[in-house]
Amino acid sequence: MCGIVGYVGKREAFPILIKGLQRLEYRGYDSAGIALLQEQTINLYKCKGKVADLESFTKGKPTKGSQGIGHTRWATHGVPNDTNAHPHYSASEELVLIHNGIIENYNVLKKGLEKRGYAFRSDTDTEVLIFLIEDIQKQLKTSLEESVRLALNEIVGAYAIVLMSKHEPGKLIAAKKGSPLVIGLGEDEYFLASDATPIVEYTREVVYLEDEEIAVVELGKDLRMRTIADKEIQPYIQELQIELEQLEKGGFDHFMLKEIYEQPRSVRDSMRGRLDVHTGRVSLGGILDYETRFAQAKRVIIVACGTSWHAGLVGEYLFEDLARIPVEVEYASEFRYRNPIIQEGDIVIAISQSGETADTLAAIQLARQKGATIIGICNVVGSSIARATHAGSYTHAGPEIGVASTKAFTAQVTVLTLMALMVGRKKGAIQESKYRALLNELENIPELIAQVLKQDSNVQVISHIYQNARNFLYLGRGYNFPVALEGALKLKEISYIHAEGYPAAEMKHGPIALIDEEMPVVVIATKGDSYEKIVSNVQEVKARGGKIISIVTEGDVEVAAISDHIIEIPETPDPISPLISVIPLQLLSYHIAVLRGCNVDQPRNLAKSVTVE
Ligand code: G6P
Repeated sequence: MCGIVGYVGKREAFPILIKGLQRLEYRGYDSAGIALLQEQTINLYKCKGKVADLESFTKGKPTKGSQGIGHTRWATHGVPNDTNAHPHYSASEELVLIHNGIIENYNVLKKGLEKRGYAFRSDTDTEVLIFLIEDIQKQLKTSLEESVRLALNEIVGAYAIVLMSKHEPGKLIAAKKGSPLVIGLGEDEYFLASDATPIVEYTREVVYLEDEEIAVVELGKDLRMRTIADKEIQPYIQELQIELEQLEKGGFDHFMLKEIYEQPRSVRDSMRGRLDVHTGRVSLGGILDYETRFAQAKRVIIVACGTSWHAGLVGEYLFEDLARIPVEVEYASEFRYRNPIIQEGDIVIAISQSGETADTLAAIQLARQKGATIIGICNVVGSSIARATHAGSYTHAGPEIGVASTKAFTAQVTVLTLMALMVGRKKGAIQESKYRALLNELENIPELIAQVLKQDSNVQVISHIYQNARNFLYLGRGYNFPVALEGALKLKEISYIHAEGYPAAEMKHGPIALIDEEMPVVVIATKGDSYEKIVSNVQEVKARGGKIISIVTEGDVEVAAISDHIIEIPETPDPISPLISVIPLQLLSYHIAVLRGCNVDQPRNLAKSVTVE
């Protein structure tokens, strides 16, 4: 959600900024802009649409300069149009600003500035901030850095900003609260970005800004940092762990397909060094110090959003089944506003692929204030959520670029499975034979995922048949109920077909009324504890003429006989079945979206990293 890039150095800034914005496209946006500084002239270009539109717009126009800022905007205040796109000028047009986040008190500040004669050009909160910074600078005759600091003290809300002045060549000022910002340190050059993806091909040395920190990058000088309370900070330089190849499509048509196909590897990476079937040991290094506290926990509360919330629901089944700990799974956005009860001995698990989701971050902060122990499950190393938790385990799925989450989900479920097994054994809640059997099955899961991927052509045939459906229903029971929700979410997100996920038995209490010959119903009907029950649910759909697409265990005949289409997957014990039953649902949504001509990797209105609430 909104992408920020900045560059100051000796190279041409324009290609670096454009490439950086392209790398950030996955975050989701609806307009883009760029400002370049050359010999005290700012060239600013911005337009609604994609980075490619911005590139065409700048053809034949001056784009020289070795310093600049670029932005992809995901509209919050004001519709997506050329005027509301960033960068924004100050009143005098001497300063330019890009911003990610929401300034909650922008209206009050705007009215104050308007009373003093300022006229705004856009509907954005960002323009208010740059006007305010300049106003302070003029009124108090202070340095630009100090004006930024004073202005940020008046701001309520979230921001990651980068600012440039036509009178201060070689310098960029950045600050962050709530929204992410990272600075890359090169040889006599600096890079700024919302995440490390635009930076990794130039340098591995980075500094992640913390909340309420301001950074000044200036050619020929070391990075300088202060807090908005005016305390000097020593930058903490870290080495980037991602590789450039991980950010490329690697021969696939879309990032989403590449990421679906990466799952045998990403799930293995999530387990690497953590699971030893020979010794029977599961060891998640990041939470070892909390193992006992976990085992004594009276309750686990899982907070997350979107797909991560679905992984959390699988976690509920896992922790209750394997570790016998009561679990509540909460939408982070609801949890944070309903005065939740947190008791001594509660453990909160926060799940987030990006590690930047504003609601999840706020839920963590609230739970921390109330004294809970917070364990994170994040994919992005060094992300805000990873840093805000007491301890945690990274999912190690590698960068996920497709907006619709796939490999991050299976990696999250893998880590949750390992956690539940580790805690269950520590507590003595799980029988040793069951524990050992599950470890063996888990070790083998990457192979099984690879086998399911071989069903791709079968899934494509089914996708052709149902590409024009207007609604879909997804049904599952037990461990596969959250998978039904996830399958429906995937389809909605990228193909814009309305889809609902339901616990199969609950269908009778409402959605059954929707079933007719036009309604495809995807049922996860694999062999397991609730197999007989789900067979009855499939019969209920059949009796009403619904079209049945069943995910069945290899060799199944009973469900196959009453289904219109089947997708076979290998047999696995219930607790780890979500790791393979979700794969055909990911493929189904992908192929339907492609057939409908949708932008699979960047679906409309969605953002990969939701940094506003
Ligand atoms: C957005 C993304 C989803 C993701 C959700 C939670 O809505 O489009 O794919 O599941 O945010 O994000 P997180 O990074 O916290 O897992």
